Amino acid sequence: MKAAAEVPLHGGTANRGRVHRVGDTVRRPLRPTSTATHALLRHLEDVGFDGAPRVLGVDDAGREVLSYVPGEAVTAPAPAWGLTDEALASVGRLLRRFHQAAADFDPTPYTWAHEVPAPFSGGGIAHNDPNLDNVVFRDGTAVALIDFDLAAPGAPVWDVAATARLWAPLRAPVDVADARRFRALRRLRILVDAYGLDEDGRGSLLAAVLDSHSWMCDIVQTGAVAGVPGFAEYWTPEAVARNERARRWLRENAAGVAAALH
Ligand SMILES: Nc1ncnc2c1ncn2[C@@H]1O[C@H](COP(=O)(O)OP(=O)(O)OP(=O)(O)O)[C@@H](O)[C@H]1O
Ligand SMILES: [Mg+2]
Repeated sequence: MKAAAEVPLHGGTANRGRVHRVGDTVRRPLRPTSTATHALLRHLEDVGFDGAPRVLGVDDAGREVLSYVPGEAVTAPAPAWGLTDEALASVGRLLRRFHQAAADFDPTPYTWAHEVPAPFSGGGIAHNDPNLDNVVFRDGTAVALIDFDLAAPGAPVWDVAATARLWAPLRAPVDVADARRFRALRRLRILVDAYGLDEDGRGSLLAAVLDSHSWMCDIVQTGAVAGVPGFAEYWTPEAVARNERARRWLRENAAGVAAALH
């Protein structure tokens, strides 16, 4: 029988050029922490959560084999259907279902990629990289999270914060070149309502957003310095400046963010 073709899957940064579709499977590089992420994915399968790929094993080339999730991720240039308020709300609902499905998983036997900082380091499992290109959609609705490489013990609000940063998005309008521009606070509210974030979560969201921004910048910068190709390409002086503008925008709009949540 002829081997199925290797089709490159684009959209990511960390594993750029190293993710392939083979038939109904996806092949990705194994990581030192794959034991942990695979245990998490197996737990999600055991509890019947359908919003994540299944772990199928390791192939002859030493890559992880995951199920291919039919649909489309929101890869650049982002299609309009991925930037609608309905798409955003569906991401919030999917994230909530993921947190609920992962709630009974015991992460303590495993080593995770990057520790989430206190006070957001416990209380559940965070996906930690809910970027647009890590969510698979069908018919404009988010159906699965993919790319669990950064998953780790973390508070639900920590994941909501990262999702808000990336999807609202919470950054300087000059750095939003699509229909989401000037709609950040409205979209923040849509996300937290669709997720069903409780009052405590709303109270700590802004702090989580600021910490999450720094946490992710550190990971990318450290990766760039260590020579991770996708990160090194991404972490240009322009990216550094853009991230600094985002930090400033968050500080300057703290009151607006807090008001949008209630
Ligand atoms: N299991 C899957 N099912 C369907 N599509 C997938 C799957 N895994 C990856 N893809 C597609 O391949 C693209 C890149 O995959 P992936 O997110 O694993 O790469 P990455 O480089 O690790 O990303 P990141 O920079 O977010 O860490 C995704 O954006 C998505 O379009
Ligand atoms: Mg990805």
